[in-house]
This record gives sequence, structure tokens and C-alpha cells, in this order.
Amino acid sequence: MGLFKSKTPTVIGIDVTSTSVKLIELSGSDRRYKIESWAVEPLPDDAVRDKQIADVQTVGSAIRRALDRAGCKVKQAAAAVGGSAVITKVLTLPADLNEDDLEGQVQVEAAQFIPYPLDEISMDFHVVGQRGTELADVLMAACRTESVDTVVSVVELAGLNARIIDVEAFAMARAAALLPALRQAGADLVTALFDIGSTSTTMVVLREGRIIYTREHSFGGRGLVDSVQQRYGLSAKEAELAIRSGDLPESFADEIAPDFRNSVAVQIGRLLQYFYAGSEFSRVDQIIVSGGVSALPELAPAVSSEIGVPTFIGNPLADMARAGRVPARAIDEGHSMMIACGLALRSFD
Ligand SMILES: Nc1ncnc2c1ncn2[C@@H]1O[C@H](COP(=O)(O)OP(=O)(O)OP(=O)(O)O)[C@@H](O)[C@H]1O
Ligand SMILES: [Mg+2]
Repeated sequence: MGLFKSKTPTVIGIDVTSTSVKLIELSGSDRRYKIESWAVEPLPDDAVRDKQIADVQTVGSAIRRALDRAGCKVKQAAAAVGGSAVITKVLTLPADLNEDDLEGQVQVEAAQFIPYPLDEISMDFHVVGQRGTELADVLMAACRTESVDTVVSVVELAGLNARIIDVEAFAMARAAALLPALRQAGADLVTALFDIGSTSTTMVVLREGRIIYTREHSFGGRGLVDSVQQRYGLSAKEAELAIRSGDLPESFADEIAPDFRNSVAVQIGRLLQYFYAGSEFSRVDQIIVSGGVSALPELAPAVSSEIGVPTFIGNPLADMARAGRVPARAIDEGHSMMIACGLALRSFD
């Protein structure tokens, strides 16, 4: 152990999603970050199913292509596990346990609700808050070691070192800390964050910047793509492109978009009800929506009026500088980079 902590090496954040590989590298500091490299590389159908990597070779080569395209020279990577492979839970434990006792206690508690033998599980935990002087809230995340190994292997196939394997919800929380809605939030505000992607929604509830709840739900923009495909006789690819570019007949805005905004609001409402039912909370102070779906015009006002909670769109890259080779699009589409950004932020630990 030296007197001076060695600087954390730069890691590139890699998010393997159901439809693409997203990659981002940051420099600078929390005064202002700069995007050094960026790429989104599409994946073929079924390379990733239910958030689990099904085709290791295909994903590995997609990461390699993304690195080439981004011109990224960094060799250390941070990636994440997520979806149903990860179980997170806040445990309430005695506050005076030392690290070893805490670990033992977390394992005892975890064994009660993890449906796998403990020796097949990778586990991580940290104290997220005190309850009076006697008790502490401990956030625990557990995942099958097999899922962690798969993520490590795709990263290594791309020629990188898998330095950090994080949990998606934790990465989201880290990226959320950059958002104005959270920076300005009073200490005690409760924020519900919803990352709505192509096939899944990740919900994270934060209080004082700390996670108090997470949940995964299979809802995403795929439903909108299906409607557009059927209505206008397009292929899935064409529909996806048309939605992203906004290049759609007028009837989209009048007939399809309102229904989809409504279903987003209904899903968010339901997820909030689950949270309330299982916690001491009965309301949240603000809602942040991110993920590709958050680009749907007028989404924030629709959610806000349906749920009755102020709602914002979260783009963690909005205020960042960018290197010359990084396209402006990277910033415009930053709302879909929450997880990748949260992973890249591990460079500054
Ligand atoms: N302007 C837009 N309006 C509505 N939906 C949009 C818009 N732009 C993109 N989307 C949708 O966002 C989705 C992609 O979002 P995102 O990139 O966050 O998903 P992902 O991270 O790849 O998927 P997942 O997290 O589910 O694995 C697609 O379904 C796409 O149709
Ligand atoms: Mg996603």
C-alpha cells in the first residue's frame, strides 16, 4: 500500500443491450466531462435474449467493431450485468457489524430469497443509509457467476480487459447524478428513474443519490415499432428508422403516438405502485425517463399529467464536451446512454 492512491485507469463503458453494443469513453472531471470516443453498433436479432448474452462470438465481434469505429485505444473496460439475472434487495442489518460479520450476515439473509446455491452466486453489497443508531440499510446485489463470466468473455473476445463488472441499476444511478434534476434536488427528495429501452424498462428509485429500490420490467419501444410496422406496412428495420428520425406520416402523431405515450404512463404508474406496496413510501417527488423511448415527443408532459408527479427526460451527456471525432448525434441521443455513461464514470472512482 502506498501513500498516494494510484489513479484509476480510464475504462471504457460498454452496454450490451438487446439490440446493440453501446460504448463510451470519458475524460475530464465532474466540472465538465468530455466524450473521447463513442459508438453504437447494432446486434443481430437473438444475439441477446431477455438481457442475457446468447451468442458470445457475435457480441464479441460487435464490441470489436464498435471500438474500431470509435477509434478507441483504451484497453480497460467496464461492463454490467442486469435483467432478471441480478437480484437486488435492501437489507436492514445491525449498524455495528464489522466488514466480515456484515458479509456473513448478508449471505445468511440472501440465502433466503436467492433461488440458486450460494456457491454459484457472485455478490456485492454496500451500506446505503443508517436507520437511527442501531440499524443500517445495506444494498445487496447478487447474480449467477455464470452471467458475470459471460460478460467477461465477450469483453475479452474484443481484446479488452474486463476490469469492472457492475450492475446496470448501479450504473444508471451513477449517470443520474449528472442530471440537473438530481443535482438540484433537495437532500431528501425521492426520484424514480425509468430507463425504457427496446425490450425492457429498468426502474431505480433514489434518495439522496442512493438507491433504495430497483426493478426490471419487460416493456419497451418494441411495441411502438410493431404498431408502426403494421400500420404503415414497413419492415421492423424501416419502422425503427422512421421512429428515430421522426420521418412518419401525420397520422403517427395523431393516432399512434398518443396511445403509446399512454401505455408508457400506465407502465410507470404500475411500477410505482409495486414500489409503494413494498416500501415505506407512498409517493415520489420526481420522475426521470431515459432510454430510447424517452425521445418520443411530448412524453414527459404526458407522464407528468397522468401520474401527477413532475417528470423530466434524462440525458447524462447533455452538458458534456466532445472530441472532434465524436459526432453531435452522441449528445443528442445521450438519453439512451445512461448505463454506458454510468460505467464510463468508473474511470473517476
Ligand atoms: N424518437 C423516438 N420516439 C419513440 N421511440 C424511440 C425514439 N427513438 C428511439 N426510440 C425507441 O427506443 C428504443 C431503443 O432504446 P434504447 O437504445 O434505450 O434501447 P436498448 O438499450 O438498445 O434496449 P434494452 O435496454 O431494452 O436492451 C427502440 O425501441 C426505439 O424504437
Ligand atoms: Mg438499454
